[in-house]
Amino acid sequence: MILTVASLKGGVGKTTTAIHLAAYLQTLAPTLLVDNDPNKSATGWQARSENGLPFRVVDVNQSLKVGRDYEHVVFDTKARPDKGELQTLAEGCDLMVIPTTPDAMSIEALMATVEMLKGLGVGQFKVLITIIPPYPERDGEDARAMLDANGYPLFASGIREAKVFKQASLRGMIVNQLKGQRAEICWQDYVRVGEELVA
Ligand SMILES: Nc1ncnc2c1ncn2[C@@H]1O[C@H](COP(=O)(O)OP(=O)(O)O)[C@@H](O)[C@H]1O
Ligand SMILES: [Mg+2]
Repeated sequence: MILTVASLKGGVGKTTTAIHLAAYLQTLAPTLLVDNDPNKSATGWQARSENGLPFRVVDVNQSLKVGRDYEHVVFDTKARPDKGELQTLAEGCDLMVIPTTPDAMSIEALMATVEMLKGLGVGQFKVLITIIPPYPERDGEDARAMLDANGYPLFASGIREAKVFKQASLRGMIVNQLKGQRAEICWQDYVRVGEELVA
């Protein structure tokens, strides 16, 4: 499966999602993460890793040669792709995963992304709600209800907001390599999304 994680907005959890979905897919079959963001966030994540990541990370320029050895490929992408870039990203994958946080600015960017995709005739995309603030805040549920009512294709589960994701990024790790129950709960958020992907 070829997945592309993309969005018109930065800071919505694209890289965190690409890294963790690649980690999940690697538990099933050899998986490659292709860094297609000139900021090289995924490459940096790997560089901070002491014991390495469980999957291989390559630059987009290396991906054609290396990619044939992998069952699953996950592309991380830059923020603010233009329309043409979004089109080629969509045409290069089986499914585009579009992360959005539940706040208004992110949802607006999501809607603009989806409008652009629809205008391009792209149908294979699914929205992932990320960085969902904890109860008693209801932002996650409110965003889900609104997007659902407006017919947006959504992953049934979302990703909670948690410090362990920042710690994982700082240390170049996957949350399931961190100790503690909290880290495991957060890993399960991405496992559920991964299970939905391969179902
Ligand atoms: N579920 C989460 N909970 C808390 N912080 C998160 C979560 N996902 C991502 N972050 C943090 O939010 C920031 C943006 O995430 P990142 O994955 O780099 O987004 P993008 O690639 O879209 O710019 C980073 O500091 C990251 O550690
Ligand atoms: Mg990023």
